[in-house]
Order: sequence, then structure tokens, then C-alpha cells
Amino acid sequence: VHFEIANPDAAGTLEALSSLGYSVESAVADLVDNSIDAGAGWVDVRFRWDGGDSSVAVLDDGQGMDPATLLTAMTPGARRRGPHELGRFGMGLKTASFSQCRQLVVAGRPPNGDWHIRTWDLDVVTRTGQWRLLEGCPDDAEPELTELIAGRPQGAVVLWHRLQRLVHPGTAPDDEAQQQQFYGEICRVESHLGMTFQRFLEGTGARLDLRVNGNPVHPWDPFLRNHRLTQQLPEEDPATADGLSVHVRPFVLPHRRYLDDTAFNKAAGPRGWLDQQGYYVYRNRRLILAGEWLDPRLRRDDKHILARISVDVPATLDTEWSIDVKKSSAAPPPALRASLYRIARSTRNVAANVLAHRGRVTRATNSSGLVLAWSAERRRNRLALKINRDHPLVRDALTLPPEDRQRVKNLLRLLEETVPVAALRQMYDVETAADPEPFSGTSDSELVELARHMFAALVRQGLGPAEAQRRLRSLEPISDYPSVVDELGDFAT
Ligand SMILES: Nc1ncnc2c1ncn2[C@@H]1O[C@H](COP(=O)(O)OP(=O)(O)OP(=O)(O)O)[C@@H](O)[C@H]1O
Ligand SMILES: [Mg+2]
Repeated sequence: VHFEIANPDAAGTLEALSSLGYSVESAVADLVDNSIDAGAGWVDVRFRWDGGDSSVAVLDDGQGMDPATLLTAMTPGARRRGPHELGRFGMGLKTASFSQCRQLVVAGRPPNGDWHIRTWDLDVVTRTGQWRLLEGCPDDAEPELTELIAGRPQGAVVLWHRLQRLVHPGTAPDDEAQQQQFYGEICRVESHLGMTFQRFLEGTGARLDLRVNGNPVHPWDPFLRNHRLTQQLPEEDPATADGLSVHVRPFVLPHRRYLDDTAFNKAAGPRGWLDQQGYYVYRNRRLILAGEWLDPRLRRDDKHILARISVDVPATLDTEWSIDVKKSSAAPPPALRASLYRIARSTRNVAANVLAHRGRVTRATNSSGLVLAWSAERRRNRLALKINRDHPLVRDALTLPPEDRQRVKNLLRLLEETVPVAALRQMYDVETAADPEPFSGTSDSELVELARHMFAALVRQGLGPAEAQRRLRSLEPISDYPSVVDELGDFAT
């Protein structure tokens, strides 16, 4: 076979690689990925304002780089990847950096080694038409780099010198408008990192110490899992034909009336309530995509802001999910689209109902301590609705003498086995104003009476009056009518 070698044109390729459309925050996140892959426990993103000479640096205490690794690291497309790493293409360091600066300086120091420094200078490559990786760093970056690496036994420093997007070259250091904008970007980067790396920032075990200009980045949980009124709907593991599954956990956030202003604004997220609804796709615990419905039939709208769904995608499905170089977009494989659409629909329906103060649907689990009358359980891929045997009223009825107890059991069994699924599906698939809300239309005195019964049941089950009264607030249906508990006041004490 005859062939010609058509090497990519250096200047043109570079131009293209710098234009992938990174935002500042996604470019920084790409560098943080690398630090995590390098085993860093500490990462600090430093923004330094100096007008047109401003810079951004990412420092970490990972395994650093020897000269050979450093050369690979700087080479576009060179890679050695495992399935658990955040990197994939061998491009991120270069594409993210070239999108932001004209000089990329990378320094690495392996344990017990020395610092090694290399620089990509876009102007040199463009001028010479050659991929000339420079040793050391540009003279005018030297003082800053020296300061950044001083006293650090191992790790890496990635320095963006001669920024070209974040500030305009030639901006005066005392240009206050530009400076404000620069600081604004820092905040955006911070909240983006808190969202993207949430799972690395919280939880037990080894946590990542991620900082921006020395300040710890706070993790942001899109699903408000710590709020007692967040509903988690049944989890599912839809699979593609070759058996590779993703893990889906749908959440419906609490209605605004249960959040104070601070909590409400925080829950809105970096892009705001409207844009943060929908699927959150995680790849190896790292957030790729935040708030998209992944189906052209579903749009973001005001009615469904409370619906947020987490999807965990293993890195083995990268190709199927079309994970892009920027790690900021993904598209589900056709085999999963139907399942994702169905889950999105049902979650949206619940969310719309919560927003409209209408009927509450049962929860499969709730971390809140809220005790519901019904629970949805998934067994061998079948969804079953069960009456909660731990609800005090149910438990109370089951303390009857054996003969009567059997009658109660029969009744519970009957109700569970004959749940009118078709009618329910219709009720929740089509939103109607007629959706029932538990005990709505019940008079206050009836509710107080019910609360009294539940209180008595709790006391019979061994709780002290004060504790019983407190518990009442977390029991369905009293949880929806907290004022009723106050009316019990005299009775309870
Ligand atoms: N902070 C760092 N510490 C140690 N090694 C690093 C660091 N940053 C980058 N590297 C090395 O450089 C290589 C290239 O990084 P780059 O981000 O370009 O590609 P990648 O992470 O392999 O894949 P992707 O394109 O998906 O990000 C990495 O595989 C790693 O070996
Ligand atoms: Mg990378």
C-alpha cells in the first residue's frame, strides 16, 4: 500500500485545540482531575491579579512527574489510562490550558526527586511551525514559579501565564472593572468545583483538601440529601444489552416553604434553580453534566425545578455515553434512553406535585427520620407498595390479641396486593388538580383526634410523653400538619 505521511500542521492544530470552548471553570476542573489522578490529597487553585499579567496556577501534592512522564504529560494525545481514572484522552492538560493562556508552564517533582519544568509557548509553536516543548520556564514567569514550588517536597504545579480569556492582554493592574470581573470568575470557579468534586470533598475516609486561593472549597449537594423532606424515589440500574448498567437515583427536593432563604439560595446551585433540574451524570464520582433532561421531549421549566436525578456511569461506558474531552457533556446510549425517559417523567410528576402542594408520593427511603404510611420497594425488578409496619398506628394494631391481629394482617395484605396500579398511574402520569393530598379536607378536630391516637400508641410502645410528642411531627400524616401537634400541648404534658 502506498501512503504519504500527513503530519498535522502544528500552528493550525494548536489553534484548533485552543478552541474547544472551555469555560474557565471547566478548564480548571480538568486540571483538578489530573491532580486527583496523580493521587493528590491537597490541591490549591491560585488566581493572581496583575492586570494583563495575571495568572492562574494549580498546585498539588500528588506523585509529581519525572522528565519522561513530564514529556508524555505535555504531548497531546499521549496517555496511559486505567478505568478508574478521571482522565481519558491524554488531552485535558493541553486543551484546557491552551483555551486560557498562551504559555503553559508545568513543573513536576516526584518523591525524592527534583523539580522538572517544561513550557508550551503557543507563539513559539506558531512561529516555528514545530512542536517545540521548551525546557524551563519563560524568564518573566520565573519569580512566580519559584515562589509556587518553594519548600514543597513533591507534587506538580500547572501555571497559566499570559492569560488570554480571563483578562485582556494589556489590561492595567488598576483597571477596577476588569479586576471585579476577575474576582467574579474566581467565585464561579469555586462553586463549580464544589459541585463537580462534591463526592471527593465530603463523606468519610480520605477526603480531598481542595482550595481556591487557600480557602477550602465547600461541597455542594444537588440533592439536598441532608434535608428531612427530600424524597428519594426508587433507585434503578438500567442496563445496555451487553449488561453494563448505570445507577440511577431520583430525588425530589423539598418545597420552598421548607427552606429558609439561605438554604433556598444555596440549593439553587451555581446556575440557578431552573437550569439545575434534571439528570446529574457522574463518571468515576466526578460530575460531568449538571442538570439536563437528556431527552429532546423534556424541557427545563418552572414546574419541574425540584426534580434532580443522579446517574452513575462507569468509565467503561465512556464511548457509549459520548463523554467529551472537556468532561462537560454526555449523551446516553440509545439502549438506555427509554428507561431514562420513563424515570425522568415519573420524577418530574412527583416534583410538580410537591411544587403545587399536592399529593405526596411514597418514598422508597428517606434519610430524614420521616415515617411514612406506605413505602415503595423494589424486589427482583418488581415494584411493590407496602404498608409500613413501623408506622406507630400499624404497629399498634398489630399488638392486638392473636386472633384480631390476624384480621389486621389479612387486611394489610389485601390492601397491598390490590393497590390500584392502573388508577395510580393515571393519577400521576397526567397531572390533574384533583390529585389527592393525604387528609386534606379533614377537619382540624379530626386530625387532632388522630394525633391523639397516634400519641397514645407511641406511649404504649414505650415512649415518654415529650418524646412521643416530638416523634409525632415526623409521622405521616401529622408531618404534613405540624400545627396539630401544638394543639395537643396540654394533653401531652
Ligand atoms: N498534576 C499532575 N500530577 C502528575 N501528573 C500529571 C498531572 N497533570 C497531568 N499529569 C500527567 O499528564 C498526563 C496528561 O494529562 P492530560 O490531562 O492531558 O490527559 P489525561 O488526564 O490523561 O486525559 P484527559 O484528556 O481525559 O484529561 C496525565 O496522564 C498524567 O500522567
Ligand atoms: Mg486530564
